[in-house]
Amino acid sequence: MKRVWLSCFFASGIAMAASPPELAAGYAAEAARQSPGFQPSARRGAEFYARRFAVSEKMPACAACHTDSPLQAGRHAVTGKAIRPLAPRAETARFTDPAKVEKWFRRNCSEVLGRACSAAEKADFILFATEAK
Ligand code: HEC
Repeated sequence: MKRVWLSCFFASGIAMAASPPELAAGYAAEAARQSPGFQPSARRGAEFYARRFAVSEKMPACAACHTDSPLQAGRHAVTGKAIRPLAPRAETARFTDPAKVEKWFRRNCSEVLGRACSAAEKADFILFATEAK
């Protein structure tokens, strides 16, 4: 049931609106299938956000472009372009468009981590950004 819902969510390509908790719940359900008992954690999300991965010198961490706090406006570490805050509290459109969220997870995770982010990492990340204050 959840799987069907998730694949419609991400594969349809139709801009379906969702709320940040719905998006986080979708990733958490996927993570729980891979690792039973998984519960998203804002603390783990915070650690992930700040962690420096040894893949890209210019983009060592999510925080390199999104700043130390998801409540702050960021700046692209390479192009210098302004980036609006990631926290829904500061920027209400965040984590409401599943296709956009997937697109940026795909791009940013491969740049920073050198691989895709897991469903667990995404669930933790959204919870952290949503609860940031
Ligand atoms: C090189 C700069 C850069 C880095 C590093 C970076 N991002 Fe981003 N991120 C962007 C830009 C640019 C956007 C799109 C512009 C926007 O939405 O404001 C974005 C948007 C996003 C979004 C879309 C959110 C939404 O609903 O609008 C997510 C999710 C995201 N980033 C996650 C991450 C994660 C996770 C990491 C670390 C693994 C990360 N980003 C690292 C530049 C970066």
